[in-house]
Amino acid sequence: MRFAILVAHYLGDVLARHPAPGRRALDLACGTGTLALMLADEGWDVLGVDGSQAMLALARAKAAALETAGRASFALGDMRSFALGPQAAPGLRPSSYHLATCTYDSLNYLLREEELAACFANVAHALAPGGLFFADMNTRHFLEHDWDPVIVDESEGFVQISQSDFDPASACSTMVVTGFAGDDVRGYQRFEETHVERAYPPETVARLLEQAGLAVEAAYDCFTHQPPYEASQRIAWIARKP
Ligand SMILES: C[S@@+](CC[C@H](N)C(=O)[O-])C[C@H]1O[C@@H](n2cnc3c(N)ncnc32)[C@H](O)[C@@H]1O
Repeated sequence: MRFAILVAHYLGDVLARHPAPGRRALDLACGTGTLALMLADEGWDVLGVDGSQAMLALARAKAAALETAGRASFALGDMRSFALGPQAAPGLRPSSYHLATCTYDSLNYLLREEELAACFANVAHALAPGGLFFADMNTRHFLEHDWDPVIVDESEGFVQISQSDFDPASACSTMVVTGFAGDDVRGYQRFEETHVERAYPPETVARLLEQAGLAVEAAYDCFTHQPPYEASQRIAWIARKP
């Protein structure tokens, strides 16, 4: 949630430098919809797509409780096939979005190069001519050196422990999250999730974007307008459909 708010502010700065040709947006891997709803609040007409029904249910509940200047709707879809083929997300219109976003390292969840290529091809298919793609990705430096091996989060009625392990051969980091949530009346439920993220060399990301027909306009050390450097933790990619 806090990250999505940071990204929304940064995206505003990025759009001032790299304008989008209209106000129709597609937020891929939208999660609980925070960015999509912030864009809708600024007057964008947004379709949020995610592969998880549970995330979409939370996004729709948030949308129902808010009044936004623009419109936000949400659809089930896989980043690798949301625009092309029989699994196209409901409501998606090809060649019609002026902005596509994919944030909070969601692209790192694609573990094979072909999956990243498929996602970029779908983005290119969905964007209108002149449309902008904005995505952030964790770097190998971050996954290998800066992602704390153990993180403990605790708040009222909630505790979770995240343990990460980086495999240099696959450039993948596996995070196992275990925790308890609840209260003294209803009791506490144990939960466990596993997240795997893969880091891609920047040259590979740039090549796959170009191969998908998206012209790379900039790669920034995320949250700045400087080029990435050796110890960058996250890269913001900005590419445009010609
Ligand atoms: C780290 S969350 C980011 C959510 C949101 N973008 C944000 O900033 O809060 C990653 C999201 O990617 C979604 N996701 C992972 N793999 C996906 C796929 N192949 N297709 C669509 N969504 C996917 C998950 O369901 C989850 O909502």
